[in-house]
Amino acid sequence: MFEKNDLCQTVKRGVRGTAGTAAGCTDTKKEFILPNGTVIPAVGFGSYLATKNGTQTITDALDAGYRYIDTAKFYENEAEIGEAIAQSGIPRREIFLCSKVWPTDLGRENTLASFAESCRKLQTDYLDLYLIHWPKNDAHDPAWLEKVQASWAAMEALYEQGKVRAIGLSNFLPHHIRPLLETARIRPMIDQLELHVGYMQEYALAYLREQDILPQAWSPLGRARLLCDPDISLIAEKYGCSNAKLLLRYLNQRGIPVIPKSSSKERMLENLDIFGFTISADDMSYLSRLNERGWSGEHPDAE
Ligand SMILES: NC(=O)c1ccc[n+]([C@@H]2O[C@H](COP(=O)([O-])OP(=O)(O)OC[C@H]3O[C@@H](n4cnc5c(N)ncnc54)[C@H](OP(=O)(O)O)[C@@H]3O)[C@@H](O)[C@H]2O)c1
Repeated sequence: MFEKNDLCQTVKRGVRGTAGTAAGCTDTKKEFILPNGTVIPAVGFGSYLATKNGTQTITDALDAGYRYIDTAKFYENEAEIGEAIAQSGIPRREIFLCSKVWPTDLGRENTLASFAESCRKLQTDYLDLYLIHWPKNDAHDPAWLEKVQASWAAMEALYEQGKVRAIGLSNFLPHHIRPLLETARIRPMIDQLELHVGYMQEYALAYLREQDILPQAWSPLGRARLLCDPDISLIAEKYGCSNAKLLLRYLNQRGIPVIPKSSSKERMLENLDIFGFTISADDMSYLSRLNERGWSGEHPDAE
């Protein structure tokens, strides 16, 4: 079990922010703060499709310096991640572990059982962050909200029992979050969304800021679809960096933590090394106005 007052990973209200803790970034932007004061690294490791070779890629990510691992029941790799962490010798409290409940497991009891199974596979008795992966299993399910509310009640119970340090959502848009907030006792602290240059979901981002829910970017590189984009390369060349670094730095300057995935140690290191330059306001503006590109095609209200 984690220590709730562990100052290494939890910022007490008022310590960093004079007006209490608000979701946002610290001065260096190397870490972000959730509304309950939990600190998360600005760059985490995305593990989807990262365990084709067993534990090696996760071991490489830990060696490269990643201390945030994003996984999910759906990725079917929690056992490999648990094994890699156990073999690493790195103390559990130094690693920020996030997993997610899949929408077929929505509902109170299913969510509790899924959480327990994720912990078992990850060889841990707590998670740092637990998310509802998608709001709906079936886009046309009229009962989706009841199921999400029941799952959220389970997440609240896990949080209050000290089994998870922070709770949140993934792929929830404002019209999914608003009705949930009507019954939630504990507000979601984070919403993991597809966010990258060419798909910034500005309406959702503005809503999350207004609600003090920290956005986090999945597929921050557009799952490699943006790495050869000429408009992005044009700006990357100005800074003498790769498209990948520019894309990650852009999100960092927008106040958004990222979880890029890579199977190569060299690229893992490159993705961590985004703090040595600053994108100018004009280039931030240019990147922000690029038309839509790189979208996965995944949408919470569509099949
Ligand atoms: N909540 C959700 O619904 C959801 C959905 C999708 C993903 N996610 C999470 O977000 C994480 C990241 O998203 P993603 O895996 O879809 O895509 P991504 O991180 O945007 O892109 C990964 C791709 O980019 C390549 N790459 C990574 N770094 C690179 C670099 N520096 N230079 C060149 N190529 C590079 C990787 O190739 P190599 O592996 O060959 O390096 C891979 O093909 C996932 O792993 C998962 O944890 C969450």
